[in-house]
Amino acid sequence: MERLSVDLARSMAGGGIARGLTAGMMDEFRPRLDAALAAVHASAGTGMLEWTDLPDRSPDDLLRFAAENHGKYDCLVVIGIGGSALGTTALATALLPFYWNELSSTRRRHGPRLYVLDNVDPDETAALLERLDMERTLVNVISKSGTTGESMAGYLVVRQRLEAIVGSRAVKDHLVFTTDRSGGTLRQIGDGMGVPMFDLAPGVGGRFSVLSPVGLLPAALTGMDVQGLLAGARDMAAWIKDSAGWENPACAFAGVQYLQDVEFGRRISVMMPYSAHLRDVADWYRQLWAESLGKTVDRQGRTVNVGPTPVKGLGVTDQHSQLQLYAEGPDDKIITFLGVGEFAQTVQIPDPGPEAEALAYLGGHSLADLLRAEQKSTAWALAQKGRPSLTITLPRVDAPSVGGLIYMLEVATAVAGELYDIDAFDQPGVELSKKATYALMGRAGYEDLAAEIG
Ligand code: PA5
Repeated sequence: MERLSVDLARSMAGGGIARGLTAGMMDEFRPRLDAALAAVHASAGTGMLEWTDLPDRSPDDLLRFAAENHGKYDCLVVIGIGGSALGTTALATALLPFYWNELSSTRRRHGPRLYVLDNVDPDETAALLERLDMERTLVNVISKSGTTGESMAGYLVVRQRLEAIVGSRAVKDHLVFTTDRSGGTLRQIGDGMGVPMFDLAPGVGGRFSVLSPVGLLPAALTGMDVQGLLAGARDMAAWIKDSAGWENPACAFAGVQYLQDVEFGRRISVMMPYSAHLRDVADWYRQLWAESLGKTVDRQGRTVNVGPTPVKGLGVTDQHSQLQLYAEGPDDKIITFLGVGEFAQTVQIPDPGPEAEALAYLGGHSLADLLRAEQKSTAWALAQKGRPSLTITLPRVDAPSVGGLIYMLEVATAVAGELYDIDAFDQPGVELSKKATYALMGRAGYEDLAAEIG
């Protein structure tokens, strides 16, 4: 299987970058990287690292469900939030054809239209309900806890609409739940109604769940290459297992990000894909990195308030939006370029003709040539300003490459958690605002907190 590459050259000192990693610094740091990776390997498959085993799990049950329901629904609505939604959006943008929902079903769209409802905005929700033909809609409610207020509110609203249109007895034929196998309100509802359900293992946290039924069921229902995603992740797992130090892709990514933050104060981690298909992988990464690494205390209980701030960009669009800041603003960023070796389509730029000689340099090139040239020139120009970057290149955007990239970034997050010495798998800062919302919405047991908030 052709693998992605990780190029650290422009994160190192030299070539214009005064404050960058040196060979000596990297040698010295190598034992820490290896220790961090060893700690991840030692816990792999256990506790909150159960997600490391996901590439080896059989997807047969969800593929069977998708096959049984093929052609039955025109729309698939995913209701979830955070780790229960961002992975699906990332996979859909990466692996479904562009403008999927607009394609005619008889031609290139071989599965249902896909809508991800991950907000409780009333205007957006009402507009979605307006669009859906409920008789031909399947709703996948995804919540690991089975209690998240936003997702449960979305579910209740959509269920009411379903009941009104298809009748309460048929509602269960339009629902499928993905939730923790050990319990929760969603599971109780599903058990009571006889809704088909897919299990999420307790040790698979939301933001590490894209390769579980959380991401794979919507993928299967819309006809993505689920086996390819898992094969790519398995290949990446083998590479990560068989390599160490800076040669290990997850360690290399985590190590550069960590050292740029801790040694050089570059606390902002920008991910900038030069492929529109990978745009939402950057969004998914933003949650993975932020929620996993932004923590008050370390594992000894000391207050550390660590965590780099992930930012998503898109090449070339954001060259005309963010690049000025990256090049000349505070030197507090490390940019990750996500490039691709080959694009699926070739679009030639025509010769502009004698009336537009100033544009002659474009004629005869392809759009891919231009995109790659812009990526390369941006990395070079940033380096001239002393700004570091690293580049991950996928051979192409397909299921194995995307599965490999996802798995690599997940392991890199776990390795970074070891380096920062924090728990990368909890999110206490999010829980507090969840509780405050319960209080403000009048949930029993939260009266004192409601009074405190005022
Ligand atoms: O990554 C996480 O753990 C969170 O972002 C959760 O996915 C998010 O809060 C939604 O939780 P749940 O799936 O329990 O509804």
